[in-house]
Amino acid sequence: MTIRAAVTGWPVKHSRSPLVHGYWLKKYGIDGEYGRVAVAPEEAEAFYRDFAKSGLAGCNVTVPHKETAAKACDWLDDAAKAMGAANTLWLDEEDRLCGANTDGIGFLGNLDQMAPGWDSISGAAVVLGAGGAARAVIWALLRRGFPSVYIVNRTFEKAEKLAKDFGSDSIAQTWDNLGEILGTASLLVNTTSLGMEGQPAMEIDLDPLPQNALVTDIVYVPIQTGLLRQASERGNPTADGLGMLLHQAVPGFEKWYGVRPEVTSELRSLILRDLGV
Ligand code: ATR
Repeated sequence: MTIRAAVTGWPVKHSRSPLVHGYWLKKYGIDGEYGRVAVAPEEAEAFYRDFAKSGLAGCNVTVPHKETAAKACDWLDDAAKAMGAANTLWLDEEDRLCGANTDGIGFLGNLDQMAPGWDSISGAAVVLGAGGAARAVIWALLRRGFPSVYIVNRTFEKAEKLAKDFGSDSIAQTWDNLGEILGTASLLVNTTSLGMEGQPAMEIDLDPLPQNALVTDIVYVPIQTGLLRQASERGNPTADGLGMLLHQAVPGFEKWYGVRPEVTSELRSLILRDLGV
C-alpha cells in the first residue's frame, strides 16, 4: 500500500520538503507519496487532533502550526517538549499521534557533515537571535555539550527569557557586548532574519573573532549570506544553512517510510538548482 505523508502549514506552496522527500522516495524505490496540505489557521487545531482521519502516515509541520501540532500530540520527544513545538509527526501502532522537533538535530547534522570535528574546539558558542530557530539551535548546542552559549538579541528581554529557560549554561548578552564575547567564540551562528533575501543586511564587526571559529547561518536564501562571505574572506571556516533543512527532514522520512535516508551532494545540488543558484 502506498505510504502517504505531506508538509502541512499555511502557506505550504513554497516548501521545498516535497522535493527533498520525492528525491529520497525515488532513490530508495519506495512506494510512497509526499505532498502539500494547506491547513488554514482556524482548522489547525481540529486537523492535528483528528490526524488519524487524514489518511497520512505522518507529516511535517511548518509555520504557523508547530505549537498547535505539539499540543495535539499524545507523545513528544525531548526536543519538542523543550521547544513547545513539533515539526515532525507520525502515528504509532495504536494511532496515537507522536511529535518530534528535528530542527536542532538538523542543525547538528549539517555542521557534522560540512565541518567535521567542529565541536571538538573548546570555546563559547555565540547565537545571534532569540526566536524559535535560536531556541532549537541553543537546545542542540547544549545537548552536544557546548560549555557556554551566549545569546545576543536586539530585544534583550527575549534573550534573557531564553537564557533563563535553558539554565546557567546559556547567557544573555546585548549587541553592545558582541565585540567582547566574539573574542572567546569558537562558533558563531546567525538565527536572525538579517541577511535573508529582502531583509536588511547583517552588519557586524568580525575583527575580534578567532580565525579558527566556525561561522554558520541558518538563512539559506541567498546561500552565501553577507555574514558567510565576510567570514570566509577573513579566513574563517563557514557552513551555509541549506544542510539544516535537509538534515531536519531525515528522521521523518525514516519514521514514515522505514529507511534512513542520506543527505547526498546530489540532493543538495537539486535544491540549489530549484533555488536558482
Ligand atoms: P524564527 O522563528 O525564524 O527564529 P522569529 O521568532 O521571528 O523567527 O525571530 C527573528 C529573530 O530575528 C529575532 O531574534 C529578531 O530580533 P527581536 O527579538 O529583537 O525582534 C531578529 N531580527 C529580526 N529583524 C532584525 C533586525 N532588523 N535587527 C536585529 N535583529 C532582528
